[in-house]
Amino acid sequence: MSPTPAAPRPRAAPGPPVSPARGRAGPGSHALRWEAGVVQSVAPPGTTDLGPGYLGPGLLPVDLLAEAYAEALTGYGAAALAYGDDRGALTLRAALAARQDVSCGPGGVLVTAGTSQALHLLATALARPRDAVLVEDSCYDLGRLVLTDCGLRPYGVPGDASGMDPQALDAALTRTRPAFVYLNPTFHNPTGRVTPLGRRRELLAVARRHATTIVEDDAYADLRLDGGTGPPALACLDGHRGVIRLGTFSKSLAPGLRLGWLTAEPAVADRLAAHGVFQSGGCLNHTTSLAVAALLERGHYDRHLLWLRERLRERRDALVDVLAARLDGGFALDRPAGGLFVWVRADRREAGLLAAARRADVLVAAGSRFAAAPVPGSTAGAVRLAYGLNGPDELAAAAERLAEVWNTIPPET
Ligand SMILES: Cc1ncc(COP(=O)(O)O)c(C=O)c1O
Repeated sequence: MSPTPAAPRPRAAPGPPVSPARGRAGPGSHALRWEAGVVQSVAPPGTTDLGPGYLGPGLLPVDLLAEAYAEALTGYGAAALAYGDDRGALTLRAALAARQDVSCGPGGVLVTAGTSQALHLLATALARPRDAVLVEDSCYDLGRLVLTDCGLRPYGVPGDASGMDPQALDAALTRTRPAFVYLNPTFHNPTGRVTPLGRRRELLAVARRHATTIVEDDAYADLRLDGGTGPPALACLDGHRGVIRLGTFSKSLAPGLRLGWLTAEPAVADRLAAHGVFQSGGCLNHTTSLAVAALLERGHYDRHLLWLRERLRERRDALVDVLAARLDGGFALDRPAGGLFVWVRADRREAGLLAAARRADVLVAAGSRFAAAPVPGSTAGAVRLAYGLNGPDELAAAAERLAEVWNTIPPET
């Protein structure tokens, strides 16, 4: 790896502590100018922010990407700076197609500006304003926001620890003709759950019977932390028929790249690529696509994933070990097998949990944020804790403080 050019002194690096990876197995990272006005949010000093579902500065591979951009620019010259192929550079699409459990071929891949933009594309290209979309009753709130911004009406379908309930989906599809069903079956945001194979097959069968498209948001697919392979993606179980799968490098490489992709049946990919946003501007992030394609081709991305998963395992375990040991019997949580979230359920009201967390100088995400519809009269509270942003020591200390204040809240208050 080439040395990093001399950098200006960091002005300030508020927020999470940085554990530079240089000199260890992983890629070099720097926290220069991790500050408001540059990054999306910065926690107030003295606060540990367990809200955001993204990687902290110590996990973002600055050196790796600096080299990858340099390689794209030297290798492709002016072609790296031209309007790119509408669907995304063939090298990247071929590499992404080959990484699917069942290849869809490069013709079934469309490069996007992340999952959010892909969802926006689908919400405008495959739906009309006021169309219904079926979502999990607890689902990624900002994905739901993208849908409602496009004028769509999301309806929550009940589920359980295995994901959306196929019978409830069947009933909803009998009543409603939605533009599509939006699912996040692997390392679900916010619950961390993984929908098992049998349930996946049942959901696919129901959707097929009603001739309804499934949009599979697989943003966390590359963050499997406990080894093994896990169940195949819905898209791969059905040879990509009737399923559009969304992927992103935001969670596994860097969200600032705004680089993602979707896979679909070639006819659907053709239809989407015919939209003005691609015809007018070409690939949404061409230079970045070439840089990341080089990382995939050279095996750097897979090596980076090994390193990243190890770091995330440490963080997850630091948080879960303390919570599991210190919270009283009114709380329940699982150790997620991947992704970025621990979902804590409690027999205490949400408002009390949030207020106590603030007293402990910890920011958490309210569980109700993710509910498709509020549950009337519910006394059970839930919060989502994210472990991507902070290092293991800070996570363990925050978990100690949370347990201390949460245990003192009487149940159902
Ligand atoms: C389920 C899910 N989908 C999509 C995204 C956003 O992905 P991207 O950065 O690719 O738009 C997130 C980020 O929190 C997410 O949790």
